[in-house]
Amino acid sequence: MIESIAIVGATGAVGRIIRQLFEERDFPYGKITFLASQRSAGTTITFKGEEHEVKLLCPEAFDDIDVAIGSTPDPVAAEFCPWARERNCVVVDESGYWRMDPEVPLVVPEINPEAADQHKGIIASPNCSTTQMVLAMKPLHDAGKIRRVIVSTYQATSGAGVQGQADLIDGSRAFLDEADYEYQAFAHPIAFNLIPQIGSHKHEGYTSEEMKMVYETQKIFGDESIKVCPTCVRVPVENCHSESILVETEKKISVDEAKELFDATPGLKVVDDLGNGEYPMPNQCSGDDNTFIGRIREDLSCENGLAFWCVSDNLRKGAATNAVQIAELLSKTQAAV
Ligand SMILES: NC(=O)c1ccc[n+]([C@@H]2O[C@H](COP(=O)([O-])OP(=O)(O)OC[C@H]3O[C@@H](n4cnc5c(N)ncnc54)[C@H](OP(=O)(O)O)[C@@H]3O)[C@@H](O)[C@H]2O)c1
Repeated sequence: MIESIAIVGATGAVGRIIRQLFEERDFPYGKITFLASQRSAGTTITFKGEEHEVKLLCPEAFDDIDVAIGSTPDPVAAEFCPWARERNCVVVDESGYWRMDPEVPLVVPEINPEAADQHKGIIASPNCSTTQMVLAMKPLHDAGKIRRVIVSTYQATSGAGVQGQADLIDGSRAFLDEADYEYQAFAHPIAFNLIPQIGSHKHEGYTSEEMKMVYETQKIFGDESIKVCPTCVRVPVENCHSESILVETEKKISVDEAKELFDATPGLKVVDDLGNGEYPMPNQCSGDDNTFIGRIREDLSCENGLAFWCVSDNLRKGAATNAVQIAELLSKTQAAV
């Protein structure tokens, strides 16, 4: 059991779901602390029916904390994780800052739980668009070895945090009212639009979000031979990322085999009946910890190709649920340093 746990960034879009998960799940801990910036410090949040004061994130905040789950912007995570580590507090971090550090395990508990044992004080949780894709890839990779993935994402505005969620609602309202609206989380209007750029330019025409899907996939599977070609797009959907995924395997996997493999994998749920108009859609998957798969079909352009559609709640399995599962691994193994 973890004696004392902290949620860092407790007031954010992911932090709010982490609080919800702690209310829903039977997670064993003694004391819980909520941390955020100067903006929210001193405000209160209701947790398990009681009022809790949000405390300021500072080095001393970790003095008596065993495990912290962090959901803050990258520069904040860069600063606070060493504060925690110096105080023997293990951090499960949601930000992108530590994920590719060779000293930091990048963990999806359904795929590489053993990596968490190697931690040196920080464990990273992957990018939301990576997590749902690798979950779907896992049974196919085990059965037929994936050589190549082509993925296009349709990412919800909640992926850009509380401000991204507000921008969609307020921007849509302004659009309908023919009023001006200044977007805070996006460089272009997201209402009634698509933005084919998430993150900054990173590598040969690919964005930082797209390169996360490449590098993180290879790190999680421990296999740099898996080639990934991503296109990440922001869409005017409030929650749940969708992905059109095409995989090419060494050994051919038929549609029926793929359905059986997906069905047998905990955390995956197949919804696939095109004739009856049944497939996963964001508005039906929100609030669920499963990753949903549909539209499974053979690639007409490639011998060993399989195409499918994948939807997952980016705030839950894409972020909060995965981090809480990692913390549960820590609590089971008593692996706090
Ligand atoms: N949204 C997703 O789907 C998703 C998925 C996977 C990973 N992530 C990652 O998770 C992290 C959080 O994302 P989010 O969507 O929850 O963002 P968000 O809604 O903007 O929340 C950010 C949180 O960080 C806190 N924070 C910001 N600056 C801080 C500072 N200087 N000191 C202390 N706390 C500070 C905020 O507290 P205040 O209330 O005080 O501002 C808030 O609690 C990001 O690194 C993101 O990339 C997000």
